[in-house]
Amino acid sequence: MKNTFKSLALVALVAFMGACKDNSKNTVETTTAPAHQHEETVVEEDTRFSVVIEGNDQMQFNTKELKVPVGEPVVLTLKHTGKMAKNVMGHNFVLLQQGADFQSFAEKAAMAAATDYIPASEEGSVLVHTKVIGGGESDTVEFTLTEAGTYEFLCSFPGHYAMMRGVVIAE
Ligand code: CU
Repeated sequence: MKNTFKSLALVALVAFMGACKDNSKNTVETTTAPAHQHEETVVEEDTRFSVVIEGNDQMQFNTKELKVPVGEPVVLTLKHTGKMAKNVMGHNFVLLQQGADFQSFAEKAAMAAATDYIPASEEGSVLVHTKVIGGGESDTVEFTLTEAGTYEFLCSFPGHYAMMRGVVIAE
């Protein structure tokens, strides 16, 4: 009885393997346990939402609108794609709290050279900011927006905010 069962199982197994062989080799590989585990590991490494924004020598960001997920960590990298030095064409990325006075912040920031153009009196208006960078440099920050909505961003280097501004939409 036991042997009969074993034989049946063996026949079933051989039939199964035969069926697998008939299919493409990929099908067999993706259904094996090790391959599945590997896939899960890769997914875990990629779960943080990341976004890149570029600034150039023409005093421009490459976008005026960034969409990010609400309540999840966002990794933001500012890249200066130009060649000009940071004291001439410096850029930063400053994300303001909702309800912050954009104009007032920008005007005060332009005079705050000693604190990298983030005025100490206005720190409460800032959600997150990169450092000021020059051509070829980049800086990365991480933040989480816990409330859905629209948040203004700017480069606070003197004279840049009129052109270098936009919104982050958390949804
Ligand atoms: Cu700038």
